Amino acid sequence: MPTPLIAGNWKMNGSRDLVEAFGRAFEEAALPAGVEVALMVPFPFLEAAGRAFAGTPVALGAQTLSDRPAGAFTGEVSGEMLRDCGASQVLVGHSERRTLFGEDDAAVLARVRAALGVGLTPVLCLGETLEERDAGRTEAVVLGQLEAVFDALSPGERARLVIAYEPVWAIGTGRTATPEQAQAVHGALRARLRRYDAALAEGMRLLYGGSMKADNAAELLAQPDIDGGLVGGASLKVDDFLAICQSAG
Ligand code: G3P
Repeated sequence: MPTPLIAGNWKMNGSRDLVEAFGRAFEEAALPAGVEVALMVPFPFLEAAGRAFAGTPVALGAQTLSDRPAGAFTGEVSGEMLRDCGASQVLVGHSERRTLFGEDDAAVLARVRAALGVGLTPVLCLGETLEERDAGRTEAVVLGQLEAVFDALSPGERARLVIAYEPVWAIGTGRTATPEQAQAVHGALRARLRRYDAALAEGMRLLYGGSMKADNAAELLAQPDIDGGLVGGASLKVDDFLAICQSAG
């Protein structure tokens, strides 16, 4: 049974004050045994978050990274720099990176490799649009995104990833996938992972993201192939995010 992980993705939101508030809350928080927690904060807050979360169970993550190690790439942030700030995880291929910033499967693979190369855990984000779902192409799209990365990795590299299924039509919309809809895709992901390696499939953490809230998290997390959540809006509210973490136990 994979270790549950609840990760918060602040996107381009938050503040140093919010970082401090989360640090204080999670210093006191009683979390269920065995539940891992991470927060992916915007780059400017990484160092403050590293300090604020140091005495808590919250791991520090980032939301993307450059596919280059260093050099004349104005505005970019390397995996090494994220490590330097104390990050241990990084989102790769979030649907907003794919749709708004043109990251195709090749760009996503390059970023997965960049993260693995400096010892970061890539959280590979996959998901279909409403049009693709309505056309009955959900599994084809999601498994295609998975294979575009996993086919190119070694067995050892594959085992270092975390996967987040985020139906694009559920992100930020309040229209959460039903537990059955989410489990159907998670089950298909687990079955495809088994074709690489049975142990890989059983150990892989499959997170659900897309309007996970305090009032629906428990039902989603009760699904057999949902091992955690990738939370957007609700991760900006201390009490809501804490409630979701406590649902994971
Ligand atoms: O990465 C998590 C995010 O895409 C989900 O956002 O606001 O629907 O929880 P939200």
